[in-house]
Amino acid sequence: MVDRNGWEEDASVPTGSPHSPPASFVEQANVTNEAIYEEFEERWPDCWERAADLLSWDRPYETVLEDGNAPFYEWFTGGELNASYNCLDRHLEAGRKTHAAIRWEGKRGERETYTYQDLATAVNEFAAALRELGVEEDDVVTLYLPMIPELPIAMLACARIGAPHSVVFAGLSADALATRMEAADSEYLVTCDGYYRRGDAFNQKSKVDNARITLEQDVETVVVDRLGEDLPHVLGDGEYDYDDLVERHAGETVEPVSRDAEDMLFLMYTSGTTGEPKGVVHTTGGYLAHVAWTTRSVLDVKPEDTYWCAADIGWITGHSYIVYGPLALGTTTVMYEGTPDYPDRDRLWEIVDRNAVDVFYTAPTAIRAFMKWGEEYPAQHDLSSLRLLGTVGEAISSRPWNWYREHIGGGGCPIVDTWWQTETGAITISTLPGIDEMKPGSAGPPLPGIDARVVDAEGADVDPGETGYLTIAQPWPGMARTLYDGDDQYRTEYWDQFSDPDHDRWWYFSGDAATVDEDGYITVLGRVDDVINVSGRRLSTMEIESVIADVDGVVEAAVVGRSSDIEDTEIYAYVSTEGDCEPDETVRESITESIEAAIGSIARPEVVIFTPELPKTRSGKIMRRLLEDVANDNQLGDTSALRNPEIVGEIQAEIRQE
Ligand code: WTA
Repeated sequence: MVDRNGWEEDASVPTGSPHSPPASFVEQANVTNEAIYEEFEERWPDCWERAADLLSWDRPYETVLEDGNAPFYEWFTGGELNASYNCLDRHLEAGRKTHAAIRWEGKRGERETYTYQDLATAVNEFAAALRELGVEEDDVVTLYLPMIPELPIAMLACARIGAPHSVVFAGLSADALATRMEAADSEYLVTCDGYYRRGDAFNQKSKVDNARITLEQDVETVVVDRLGEDLPHVLGDGEYDYDDLVERHAGETVEPVSRDAEDMLFLMYTSGTTGEPKGVVHTTGGYLAHVAWTTRSVLDVKPEDTYWCAADIGWITGHSYIVYGPLALGTTTVMYEGTPDYPDRDRLWEIVDRNAVDVFYTAPTAIRAFMKWGEEYPAQHDLSSLRLLGTVGEAISSRPWNWYREHIGGGGCPIVDTWWQTETGAITISTLPGIDEMKPGSAGPPLPGIDARVVDAEGADVDPGETGYLTIAQPWPGMARTLYDGDDQYRTEYWDQFSDPDHDRWWYFSGDAATVDEDGYITVLGRVDDVINVSGRRLSTMEIESVIADVDGVVEAAVVGRSSDIEDTEIYAYVSTEGDCEPDETVRESITESIEAAIGSIARPEVVIFTPELPKTRSGKIMRRLLEDVANDNQLGDTSALRNPEIVGEIQAEIRQE
């Protein structure tokens, strides 16, 4: 059978069959005793002390879980610690000063290694520089930087002085930056002049200038000179050169501030069910304990490993598994700037080979691309250092799963398919690679201590194989504590759907649909709300729709995702225009440009379909489900309940022309 991408299915290989972890892996794994599942169940919530024990506390905590004010849970209350101390100082004290902390691979082939001592020095100096600018404990510092070492340095410098960071992905637009700074009332920004995109110099500073024009608050801005002579820039009022600032504090040390376990470590904006991005709040103790614990138990990372999560620090995956998790464990974390196909399609495998990477963690969207490019690229390199592979961000179907195992893992590496979210902070569903059988296409059972359930609308467990809603029925340390914008919104967004406060039942709703099999393995199917997952990035359909609706001549718009096993999800935008507005290329271009300006090119629709009207119910609701079926070529259900059923055929004809 050949699917629409031209891939040959080999009918003789049962792609979905389970695999046991190889004995050679189990022998050395961090967690191998299956009694851990029982132990966590019996000793919950105290079982989470295991995670907290991986950290160094300035003051021991008194209570593991404080649940008196659900759903506003508190973990490790009374405890005090500093995240940068945990990621740096304690490793120096343990005699690991010269151990590599970060190996950075720049876009132009630059390579830099920061030992734990180098990193600690850089973090201390920048922490002193931030203080000089006036940053105080609890001030939100926005970081708008690409994948250069200054990004983790700035994060840890903020953590050192107790200033929460808010990292905005460097590819987002000026508007997106301004919205996030405004919402967080952030008066400090660390950015750069620009960065290289496929070899070209790209101007980041001009985006910052545009954002600053719209901001009401005064902003002190630190600018990293990434491009040097390739992009000369001028610093204006309230703008400082990173190197100049740091030079003034050369050799200075800054005492790490003891933070309450529940003090905010960072804010991360993500898409939710409303058009506005939500500021997810993560605190110091529970978050750090949970990421350290999962880096150890799920990703099997050891201090002597070279570990590589090929994500961007601008999203939660990079926060938890490039910066905080691996550095808390004192391992070597690889950080790369660029794309997997530049200068050539073997870039990642060249990096794995040269650095003898032990554990590699990436997203299905990347694996699908590797698969399309062909096995000859990984085959050019020695990948035998790899011991474990991981994936995150969206479901991985069994074909790419098997390809990953075969061509990257040499057939012998276990794979962990890890399900989690910005809001869960750290991995919550995955096999434990030293214990559990892997089932390609299924993330696995909930981790010990995580009560994830797939339920129907009433909250009853669904039968194996049935589709339901993915919920978590008890709190966990890495969970978001609230939304920066407010507690009420936090409750409505995540807790109202499945909780029953009268019976003190508090269940977290993930927004995902899932199925579960007889062994309790969970397969996540995708979002059920107004969020679409494009290449592992969350976008709000409402946010995109409202941008389109603001374009001159547009009446209304509906945005859906078209997804398949192999292709990345594509954005389809259905747009109706005013009677006197001819829907032509100009309108199409302004739609695309507005989206790029308001959100960034990651939200650009693949297809824009003009239609005189959107299909609506008799009560006037846009039938998004139907539009999704149309985009996905699915069998359409009964359309007779529509006010304007004839429009569906017109839309289908329009799509066929595209
Ligand atoms: C999806 C990324 C299936 C899911 C860490 C979730 C997954 C959203 C998986 C969170 C997986 C993440 N299998 N789907 N292994 N991992 N997702 O907040 O829809 O950027 O709700 O966090 O990604 O995306 P976020």
